[in-house]
Parts: sequence; C-alpha cells; structure tokens
Amino acid sequence: MARKYVIGGNWKMNKTIAESDEFLKEFKKEIGDLSKHVDIIIFPPFTSLSSACKNLKGSSIHVGAQNMYKEKKGPYTGEISPKMILETGATHVILGHSERREYFHESNEMIAAKARLAHDSNLQPVICIGETLEQRNSGQTEEVLKKQLHGSLGGLTPVQMQQTILAYEPVWAIGTGLTASPEQAQEAHQFIRSQLSSMFDKKSAEVTRIQYGGSVKPQNAKELFEQADIDGGLVGGASLDPDAFMKIIQKVPQ
Ligand code: 13P
Repeated sequence: MARKYVIGGNWKMNKTIAESDEFLKEFKKEIGDLSKHVDIIIFPPFTSLSSACKNLKGSSIHVGAQNMYKEKKGPYTGEISPKMILETGATHVILGHSERREYFHESNEMIAAKARLAHDSNLQPVICIGETLEQRNSGQTEEVLKKQLHGSLGGLTPVQMQQTILAYEPVWAIGTGLTASPEQAQEAHQFIRSQLSSMFDKKSAEVTRIQYGGSVKPQNAKELFEQADIDGGLVGGASLDPDAFMKIIQKVPQ
C-alpha cells in the first residue's frame, strides 16, 4: 500500500509572528503543485499559529502545534489545550519531541495521554521517538524504541494508530549535523514498523507513516526518502529557510 510522503517543518522556538509571515509569503509562492504529492506541515510556535493558518488559507499546506497539554482545560498555567490549537485552524500537533522529553521531563505515559486526547479532539498527532548516542553505542537502540512505542502509544486503537504520524528522531542526530545513514535510518524504521504489526495489526504497520528527523538537509534528503520504510522527514534547522525547506521537499520521490 502506497503511503503518501509527509514533510514537517518544526521551527522550535524560532520566528516571531512577523518572521513567520515573511517566511510563508515566500514559501507559498514557490510551492507550486508540490503539495499534491506530499503532505506539508509547518509547526510554528503557538504565538504564530493563527496568523500562519490565515496566511495559508486556501493552500494545501497544513499547520500544527509543537506541543499541547493532556487535559481539556483547567488550572495548568502556561499550558495549551487541543481546543485552543484547533481554534487557530491548526490540524496537527507534535507530541513527545526529544527536547520535551529531555528538558521538560515528559514521560511516555504523559505522551500517551496527550496522544489519546489529541485523537479524541480531532488533532492529528506526530509522535516522536529516538535513542541517544549512549544508548545506540551500547546496543540498546531497539530496546529503547520498543519501550517508547509501547509507552507513548498506549491505549490507541488501530484506527487511531493509522492516523498517527511517527517521527524517528535519533537524539544524537538532532541539531548536530550528524545524520543517521540511510541504512541506519531504514533499519530503525523497519524495526518500528515490525513493532506496530505486533502491537496493533498488519494494516497499522503498513499504513502508518514514519518520518525521519535529525539534521535532514537538501544534501542528504534524497537518499533518506528513498528508503522503503521512510515516509518523509521532520525537519528542524533547515525548515527555517524557505529555500532549503523547499529543496528538501523537492527530494521526495514522485
Ligand atoms: P534538526 O533538523 O535541526 O536536526 O532538528 C530535527 C528535529 O528535532 C525536528 O523535530
């Protein structure tokens, strides 16, 4: 079954509203009909979500948030609910990014609770997993991925799984300029897919899209995207520049 490629631009804590508007003006001009072959999702900071959605109205480029809380409302100072995100016009949300796991101590259980609420709210989650260099070097990659998958996807139904996007982002490749080789990435993606088959069912393994993230650049994107189990990329640094991001999207096999 052919899976549609999906490329995300995770801007992290970058770009003001004015800078976001400027990027999208430029980006929209260049996109042409590329978004017919590939789903494109921009993940700006919360403050720019509304204006990004307005800017992209009528285009097929999606907008997503970088995080949300696991409750619908209440006394959670500084947090954002799914309804607030949906109100901006955004349709997706990144959950469990390694920076959230590391700096904000998000557990697999917390991420699973967010994922269930995202689905119940009709927001499509992009759930991130990935091992550290230490874990890779000590041969624990598969064990770590398995634990993250079982923990972060807990309680999802097969249909919800199929509507979830996974992002394999080895922590050692994020923002470091070190990319997993196409073979290393393919091996991890294949392992993740085999886990989905045993955790959910064969269809979930076939249908769920798995992005690679970690120093994706115009120079390495093609080889990564050509791998059988890699369905696109979640791009950090290179998504901040419209030209570099466009060049990455152009590397998607057609
Ligand atoms: P870089 O592309 O900057 O390595 O970031 C990857 C990432 O964390 C995307 O979510």
